[in-house]
Amino acid sequence: QDELKDAVAAAALDDIRPLLARNTVIGVGTGSTADRFIDRLAALRDDFKGAVASSEATAERLRRHGIEVFELNEAGTLPVYVDGADEINPRLQMIKGGGAALTREKIVAACSERFFCIADQSKQVERLGAFPLPVEVIPMARSYVARELVKLGADPVYRQGVVTDNGNQIIDCHDFMIDDPLTMEARLNAIVGVVTNGLFAARGADRLLLGTDQGVERILP
Ligand code: A5P
Repeated sequence: QDELKDAVAAAALDDIRPLLARNTVIGVGTGSTADRFIDRLAALRDDFKGAVASSEATAERLRRHGIEVFELNEAGTLPVYVDGADEINPRLQMIKGGGAALTREKIVAACSERFFCIADQSKQVERLGAFPLPVEVIPMARSYVARELVKLGADPVYRQGVVTDNGNQIIDCHDFMIDDPLTMEARLNAIVGVVTNGLFAARGADRLLLGTDQGVERILP
């Protein structure tokens, strides 16, 4: 799987190259696949202005490679966001947040004209939900939100010891297969105390670079 992640990271670099100019700021995601992309992006560091990071960990890695990190509020609309996923379906809707970075990932994705998802074949599913869906919650609302999640059919599990970059907590929804990601994303967003849920349905990916044993496939929604 490491080789597949390397292959999609390299392919993503090829795909973003035409979008880069000296004043371009791109969005960069979080996780082991995104890390490989960042390591390769370093080679192009003089060809673009910098990046907006979807987590503190990504910001640090970008800086270590000499890539300037910008605040999203300074950067405006980004031409492209590159990030991994925990699961992705044929419509390129995703579950994200396995690394607890879902809120900033969703914000940066929302501010980007294109979302290129980079993933190995283990992430591809017909139906989302085998991977427990992360929900970021305001700490004082955790128990209330968990009770509401039970009403929706989930088995909520508090991710012990994890504090998000925004100072909040994560509940993972187990045993929660999702038939209608768009509707479920909106229902989860409507629970008071929920900051973000890890369903990327309203704003899915625009292109999937999928690492397979036969090479990198480029898939459109
Ligand atoms: C981070 O919060 C997630 O959304 C990641 O994008 C996701 O977990 C993918 O990570 P890997 O590339 O490490 O599988």
